[in-house]
Amino acid sequence: MKLYDQQHIQAFYNEYAEQESLRWDKSIVEQVKQAVHLHHLHQNIEPGDTILELGAGTGIFTQVLATYTADLTVTDLSPVQLKLNKERAVQENYMSKVKDWQITDICDLSTWADNTFDKIVCYGGPLSYVFEQKIVALQEMKRVLKPGGLLLFSVMNLWGTAREYLTKIMMSVSPTDNEKIIQTGNLHPSSFTPSEHHCHMFRLDELQQDIDAVGFEVITFSASNCLSALRADDLLELKKDELEWTYFMDLEIRACQSAGMLESGTHLIAVVKKNS
Ligand SMILES: C[S@@+](CC[C@H](N)C(=O)[O-])C[C@H]1O[C@@H](n2cnc3c(N)ncnc32)[C@H](O)[C@@H]1O
Repeated sequence: MKLYDQQHIQAFYNEYAEQESLRWDKSIVEQVKQAVHLHHLHQNIEPGDTILELGAGTGIFTQVLATYTADLTVTDLSPVQLKLNKERAVQENYMSKVKDWQITDICDLSTWADNTFDKIVCYGGPLSYVFEQKIVALQEMKRVLKPGGLLLFSVMNLWGTAREYLTKIMMSVSPTDNEKIIQTGNLHPSSFTPSEHHCHMFRLDELQQDIDAVGFEVITFSASNCLSALRADDLLELKKDELEWTYFMDLEIRACQSAGMLESGTHLIAVVKKNS
């Protein structure tokens, strides 16, 4: 059975529209996840890089990438998300930094020649939406990266998501359905009939195998969040003191990269390199 349904995902994100912008502001824990993603951006993007952003959504990360380069190509499967992305660039005055906005499926990057980009950013789970096409998508990303180029991406993570949403999952999903989701990693009608939000939640060993299959070298793995999970009230207190908050974020970023913690967060972040 074919799991990736491009039209369904496109319609889902067209309908979701502005709600996507609010995702990172939903709670202080989401803000920590955003800060961890940003940390890896700042660690790896260099001024003047030629950058392709995939699944850019409404542009939370586009706006940051635009501070590094005027050679930025912004793409998404959803025309509505891309329109909102453009509107943000107009409002925040960085239109001139974006070379082009293109409707693009990560599984087909044929618009671009081999070895075009220094960096590709695919944050927030686009790879989780393409199910059995994930290797094709990773191969396409590798093809359009220059040798030595870096791909920064994040995917949804099975155990970290179960940890964050355990109460909701246990209360509202039957053990039989839960077991199908855990076995397959798929939130999809094939494993859980009511699921409108189709996505695949990766395990770390699966992601490592996929990266190896395509021939990327892993530079960094990180959880999206770890110490901060399920501690919204404590975090709100900590944030009142700038020094304490800075120290906490430093701990969080280090903990997220510790081998035993990589599957703690709702997302897994990876920075991988094309060697040849
Ligand atoms: C959760 S949002 C992430 C947006 C942004 N990158 C961020 O992290 O804030 C996922 C985005 O991926 C896009 N997307 C989903 N499947 C895609 C695909 N096959 N190709 C390109 N974009 C896709 C969606 O339209 C949506 O804008």
